[in-house]
Amino acid sequence: MFELTRRDGLARIGKLETPHGVLETPALLPVVNPRLVTVPPRELYDRFGFRALITNSYIIRNDPKLNEAARRDGLHAMLDFPGVIMTDSGTFQSHMYGEVEVKNEEIVSFQRDIGTDIGTVLDIFTEPDWSKERTAEAVDVTLDRTQDAASIKGGMLLAGVVQGSIFPDLRENCARRLALIDVDVHPIGGVVPLMEQYRFAELVDVIVASKKGLDPSRPVHLFGAGHPMVFALAALLGCDMFDSASYAKFARDDRFMFPEGTASLSDMKGIHCHCPACASHTYEEISKMAPAERTALIARHNLWVSLEEIERVKRAILEGDLWELVERRCRAHPALLSALRRLADHKGYLERFEPLSRDNSLLYTGIETLDRPVLLRYEKRFFDRYQYPDHEIMVVFEDDGGKPFARHYAPQIREMLEKYDTHFFVASPIGPVPIELDEMYPIAQSLFPDRPDLETKERIKEQMEHMSHEQTYSVGMAYDGEATMQALEMMSQRPPSFDIDLARVKAVADYQFGRGASAVLLDGKVKLVKSENTGKIRNVLVDGEHILSMRANDGFFTLRPPGAFRLLKGFPAPHMRVVVKDDAIPFNREGKNVFCAFVEECDPDVVPMDEVLVVSSKDELVAIGRAMMVRDDMLAFRTGIAVKVREGIKK
Ligand code: GUN
Ligand code: ZN
Repeated sequence: MFELTRRDGLARIGKLETPHGVLETPALLPVVNPRLVTVPPRELYDRFGFRALITNSYIIRNDPKLNEAARRDGLHAMLDFPGVIMTDSGTFQSHMYGEVEVKNEEIVSFQRDIGTDIGTVLDIFTEPDWSKERTAEAVDVTLDRTQDAASIKGGMLLAGVVQGSIFPDLRENCARRLALIDVDVHPIGGVVPLMEQYRFAELVDVIVASKKGLDPSRPVHLFGAGHPMVFALAALLGCDMFDSASYAKFARDDRFMFPEGTASLSDMKGIHCHCPACASHTYEEISKMAPAERTALIARHNLWVSLEEIERVKRAILEGDLWELVERRCRAHPALLSALRRLADHKGYLERFEPLSRDNSLLYTGIETLDRPVLLRYEKRFFDRYQYPDHEIMVVFEDDGGKPFARHYAPQIREMLEKYDTHFFVASPIGPVPIELDEMYPIAQSLFPDRPDLETKERIKEQMEHMSHEQTYSVGMAYDGEATMQALEMMSQRPPSFDIDLARVKAVADYQFGRGASAVLLDGKVKLVKSENTGKIRNVLVDGEHILSMRANDGFFTLRPPGAFRLLKGFPAPHMRVVVKDDAIPFNREGKNVFCAFVEECDPDVVPMDEVLVVSSKDELVAIGRAMMVRDDMLAFRTGIAVKVREGIKK
């Protein structure tokens, strides 16, 4: 069973239950070659803290001594490793050396019998230079073998490998069919050549295509991904597990791994590393070591660095800055930058998993930031949902970095609103921002450098042009100090009527709950309660009922029951709904969270952190809360909180 404790987009932190304990993901499994041990498994466990490793059952089977020991004592005793052991099947040997002389059933049974925790099917390694026909046939064989393996796996978890080479349709189709087979982990296979050749952009396509087809409730392993350079990127795309033989292979060639790339000892002018392996040694000492000793040191260095990067990725998922980490890492090499740019091709898919808001601010790192799904989210929701208020003249400020915009431009706004019926926009890199949306994520919670690059300027221009075709003002003008005041004097006919507080409530409600939500929610006598300290809107009351509260940190609303009833009445199902099974209803009415197992259906447009209406199959309101995941996750997972309930609705 795989349970997630945290998500950010496709990235996730999870726990995989295995016969030898719970494996926390993202996890790196060092490869242990039982015939050529570089770092003993016991040391991996005790000193490094690795809780899982991967070894090769094909090598063990073919070595009479190892075979006997594994059968007699079991794999864990043989390797002296108390943690989770995954085994591979011999497929990689076939990639390296051609055919292997073992049958799928035989190697799967062998893995099961020696007590492996996660065994692997004998899949066919689909090479990037194969024709589509040959690849498709190999995928079919792999799927047949996976089906056979699943029927004999016993108590062992089984890894069913996604193949399909660089053909996205074959990958997605393979993944979809694998999702129907009773396997437990999904490695994405056949990607080693892509990584060796630095074809990271294609790697992005392969991972995304595979993820599209897979069952989201199963962990995804990126087979052979052992370089810390790619961990952040792969985790961003939803890979949970990695394995590395590189730490040892690179060490044999005197190569040091870093998240920024690889460095050969002969090219290095110093060690500049404080990992436990390097710390007490000088460059000269390491250079003069006997080869075996040096290999041992560098292998340990490579492991420490890889482990640290996995920890860094985990922290980024928890803290909400994984995108920033990925953008920084992908600047280490042009091939990685190509991969980062390739993400733009998939932003529509990625946007579906993008949370409504994050704890961390969006930091602009370069033009690739402009293609982040979070910006697409704003673009989609603004253009679909925003309703232009009825004012005579639109004045557009530039985004000079001062935030929140309304406060930054308060003197200018006040001056214009003394006499003229103006409304205000800011031409920001995120898009056209009506001044009243200035406190909402990611508008206030984002930082851009003060000299925009050409691409950012171009984007601002495009977005403003798009808006100019849709806006409904009599006149629009860019703010230009005194000249603007003079123009307004000449043009303005109507008295001022812009009320930023009411506009804020309307605009955020439409953006957050759907076009027209403000009309439904605010139908009646509206009263706003503001914070005495900050002057920010706290509560929205309509006809004396508290319908919404506004959060200070991200500028979004939390829904109160009277507001929820209004939305329920105003929008037909499935909008904002999470339908729960009958037996859960009494618990949710008591305010208990909605667990995945009890979700019957969910609005496919719900995104993580959205406010949702928890309803019965008859569309009766049962509770209100915040969605923790998208619909497909709710329906796929058997454990985990689907909706954090804030309030139950008693009958
Ligand atoms: N190790 C690296 N790539 C692969 C793969 O595609 N299949 C298997 N079984 N092992 C691998
Ligand atoms: Zn080091």
